[in-house]
Amino acid sequence: MGKVVVLDHPLIKHKLTFIRDKNTGSKEFRELVKEVSMLMAYEVTRDLYLEEVEIETPLTKTKSQIISGKKLGLIPILRAGLGMVDGMLSILPAAKVGHIGLYRDPETLKPVEYYCKLPYDIEERDLIVLDPMLATGGSAVAGIQFLKNRGGNSIKLVCLIAAPEGIEKVQNAHPDVDIFVASIDEKLNEDAYIVPGLGDAGDRLFGTK
Ligand code: PRP
Ligand code: URA
Repeated sequence: MGKVVVLDHPLIKHKLTFIRDKNTGSKEFRELVKEVSMLMAYEVTRDLYLEEVEIETPLTKTKSQIISGKKLGLIPILRAGLGMVDGMLSILPAAKVGHIGLYRDPETLKPVEYYCKLPYDIEERDLIVLDPMLATGGSAVAGIQFLKNRGGNSIKLVCLIAAPEGIEKVQNAHPDVDIFVASIDEKLNEDAYIVPGLGDAGDRLFGTK
């Protein structure tokens, strides 16, 4: 079973409070999502491999470490996942970015695919799926399955807020995937929105409602 890691650093908790607040406008919301994503990237990449290299400081030769091993792929699930890309890229600038377009049909709540463009070599990359909200888990399960169907074999999921139902669904469907979240909230409401949550992440990021 994949692990579930709650990244409850005080800075993340503080920023999440303002992300949740309904009085936070789109500009500030975007900035905060970017900042939290950057902080999360730090923990999500904790297991990256390092290799030793020799360098020269102004004083002497020394051995030091750089990141090695598989390259990274960031995979935002459109639209709301886009809000997490810049923060992650700011400290993982060499990562390639693949996009998966999925929306949750408001009637059936099932994910509907409308776009997919991935790095050509995803089977050789550590993939990090980005979506601020893990509600029923339908979108994340479908997005991860997309990646696996196209050869992805090393996948992590990073969300800001998750419902227990979504975590369970991803764990059952993809037991090889570790899940990183800033908060596990209480429940889903009758419209499958996360409570207390933050509302509709895509609408709040892009000002569409
Ligand atoms: C939101 C969110 C997830 C999905 C979560 O996207 O960003 O992708 O819902 O719900 P689920 O876990 O029940 O599938 P939405 O479908 O609203 O599309 P958007 O990002 O384009 O706004
Ligand atoms: N999608 C969102 O944007 N918010 C939720 O609470 C659930 C799904």
